[in-house]
Amino acid sequence: MSSSISVEDKEQLIQASIEAKQNSYSPYSKFRVGAAFLTPDGRLIKGANIENASYGGTICAERTGIVKAVSDGVSKFSALAVVTYVLANPYLVCPPSDVHHTASRDVSSACSPCGMCRQVLREFCSNDMPIYLVPGDYPRPLKENEKSEDGYIEGGVRQTNLAELLPDSFGPEHLELPRK
Ligand code: THU
Repeated sequence: MSSSISVEDKEQLIQASIEAKQNSYSPYSKFRVGAAFLTPDGRLIKGANIENASYGGTICAERTGIVKAVSDGVSKFSALAVVTYVLANPYLVCPPSDVHHTASRDVSSACSPCGMCRQVLREFCSNDMPIYLVPGDYPRPLKENEKSEDGYIEGGVRQTNLAELLPDSFGPEHLELPRK
């Protein structure tokens, strides 16, 4: 079971992740991702994926956000939201004049952090910290008599955490174990 944040904080966090995606630099994959972290004192820290002509130099949105925060002295987090695309306002994230993005088509289903990001999150986030995976068409309305699937909350958001995404993981505490 995840720890929780208020409905207002969750909405602000989701909106911050949507804003974060505006600055995605993804001319190669054309796959834009935005992430936002909430800190215990109410700050919101945004990150977008930043690609590179040497593809391996690409940094995911989640890692951009966490590295920005930690290098500014913030290393405690209460929640994370990740989004790929917002259908309601496509030109906000895809200006027609943007040469990098004119040919892009976005993915509307919620995107789950990649393996490398999960490990980086594990360094700074608790196993039960809420992680909201936001669909591109957020807030996705439920059809009449439709119930949210297990693990999903309002707006079509999937709520998860590191215990689910990275079970049996290796973290900083393992380096503290007694050694021979
Ligand atoms: N990407 C992220 O930003 N976060 C993830 O967790 C998955 C993948 C980015 C990296 C790359 O710019 C693009 O999505 C396609 O892999």
